[in-house]
Amino acid sequence: MSDDAISRNENRSTTPHNSAFHGYISGDWGDLPRAVAIQRAQAPFCAERRRALSADFAGHTLVIPAGPILVRSYDTHHPYRPHSAFTYYTGWGDDTVPDSVLVLTPNGNDHDATMFYRFPAGRGTEEFYADADIGEFWVGPRPTPDDVAVELGIVTKSLADLPDVLAHADFNWAIIREADSAITDAVDLARGDSEARDHELAVFQSEQRLIKDAFEISEIRRAIEATALGFDDVLETLPEATAHTRGERLIEGTFNRRARAEGNHVGYETIAAAGAHTCFLHWERNDGPVRDGDLVLMDAGVEVESLYTADITRTFPVNGRFTETQRLVYEAVLEAADAAFAIVKPGIVFRDVHAAAMAVIARHVSDWGFLPVSLDESLSETGQHHRRYMVHGTSHHLGLDVHDCPQARKEFYKDGIVREGMVFTIEPGLYFQVDDLTVPEHFRGIGVRIEDNILVTAAGSENLSIGIPRTADDVEAWVGRLA
Ligand code: GLY
Ligand code: MN
Ligand code: MN
Repeated sequence: MSDDAISRNENRSTTPHNSAFHGYISGDWGDLPRAVAIQRAQAPFCAERRRALSADFAGHTLVIPAGPILVRSYDTHHPYRPHSAFTYYTGWGDDTVPDSVLVLTPNGNDHDATMFYRFPAGRGTEEFYADADIGEFWVGPRPTPDDVAVELGIVTKSLADLPDVLAHADFNWAIIREADSAITDAVDLARGDSEARDHELAVFQSEQRLIKDAFEISEIRRAIEATALGFDDVLETLPEATAHTRGERLIEGTFNRRARAEGNHVGYETIAAAGAHTCFLHWERNDGPVRDGDLVLMDAGVEVESLYTADITRTFPVNGRFTETQRLVYEAVLEAADAAFAIVKPGIVFRDVHAAAMAVIARHVSDWGFLPVSLDESLSETGQHHRRYMVHGTSHHLGLDVHDCPQARKEFYKDGIVREGMVFTIEPGLYFQVDDLTVPEHFRGIGVRIEDNILVTAAGSENLSIGIPRTADDVEAWVGRLA
């Protein structure tokens, strides 16, 4: 254990350091009961992903760290979550041992994969009982090297062996730089600060992730199923939420409870916005009341243990009935979403999904008289006045990250061709801020977003979240049934 860790523990711990204590606590331990390890369902998929990566980086050693535990303050930390690139190529999800590193070493035209991770320390070590960060007496047992090798189908080596390996880094090495700054520094030091093909590696993995394999699609389906349960829970808790001064927090807590029960966590901070807060696109403070007559906009997703997430938004009236204006806005947004869905099939250009939704949004705000220019002028590149009421995009890719594949080049993402196996969101909205003087008073304070997750199929598309009510009538019936 580091001196730093010992001194941090001293103020709140009375762990003895004498040899009698060490001898006593180190002995008389039996064998831990452990489940028989079996290969995980994702292992063959991850092997295939590594093969594709290997073909593009022949002769290069590739370093893909899971990343460290992130400090929140002093000796408290954030919940651990490995870097998505690590999980993508290893299949190790929410139970990843922090600080693990996947190293792919060239072997002819292929690569050998090795998982460097912190092996169990053994009960005879001070780490076991005195290290509050990683000691197994504190945080629970780590898996054995054999179990990790069987479950992931990857050879394991002790993390203690990694520094010697990294010391040999040269120009033919590439690393996912953002995952673990200490590992990146070690590689940079050994190869002389050159970033070599690091950027290409980041871009490659982002673009590889644009097309989901069968395992990924089934995990995203599971994430959406769990998310649907969370939305139902929230409706059931609405009477409690309206009775509390911070009803938005009750909504958030209710959803997040389901996320922890069914999966790893939420895939991003839950947005639980009521009343005028619905107009703030990423309202995550969630500290407002929920009142009769309000709309609630909830944008939330469960991240399952394999770390795939859903990203769903539903907007619903707290009392089970949209007002006339709320319904008008809701149906305009729904029409925009349906227009976007209607064009999705392999071969279209991704940004046209946004254009299809925007054409509907622009037409409605023009018909309502909110635009200072004609509809055509607003839709032109030099206009875009309608975007005042929906400043965000309509779609983003979805997977291990809620905003998946962010390092993909524009020509493969925004300007790219939509292909079978892509999963993305369709999420138009309309937001009329309480202080927006361009709209009549009865529109002010109304925000609506409808967000679904779509899979591109050979024939067109599938709305993966169609099971969560989305038409105005169905939403009213849903609230009426559960709240
Ligand atoms: N939940 C964030 C988004 O919809 O992109
Ligand atoms: Mn969302
Ligand atoms: Mn989204």
